[in-house]
Amino acid sequence: MTFKLIVNGRSTTVDVPADMPLLWVIRDVLNLPGTKYGCGVAMCGACTVHINGEAAKSCVTPISSVAGKKVTTIEGLSTDGSHAVQQAWVELDVSQCGYCQPGQIMAAAALLANHPDPSDAQIDAAMNGNICRCGTYLRIRQAIHRAALMRNKQSKWSTAPALKAIETK
Ligand code: FES
Ligand code: FES
Repeated sequence: MTFKLIVNGRSTTVDVPADMPLLWVIRDVLNLPGTKYGCGVAMCGACTVHINGEAAKSCVTPISSVAGKKVTTIEGLSTDGSHAVQQAWVELDVSQCGYCQPGQIMAAAALLANHPDPSDAQIDAAMNGNICRCGTYLRIRQAIHRAALMRNKQSKWSTAPALKAIETK
């Protein structure tokens, strides 16, 4: 069966069985290997992507349920690693072996899109489904706070010229 979806901003058509998990479509059909396979049963979060802006576990998401939707993978979060979450991850040296990190970053980016300044409790709740066998949880939490700060600063800077123009009218 053919399914049309938008992956990382590009309209894409795939011809696969209706029950094929999105994870395998992303990795094996679309050749985007950044999204990882961990457990295959929605328990680890390694396969986290965004579907219409919300974090979702692609290992248990059949392609048929994604038809017509927007999917973002780690490759599409930014083209140059400039997303605040990616920058914060690098600044705080979050990754250890790295295997879980694409999923962690996608979960964190979805959290910040909905909660620009999340509390520790909101971070822990949102990241609860993403397991890190290397135990990088404390750095992940710090990096999410750092990314929130960076984003809030950026949005203040980006609105400053517009505010100035209004003030001088
Ligand atoms: S591989 Fe999808 S949650 Fe583990
Ligand atoms: S960094 Fe190794 S599993 Fe998370």
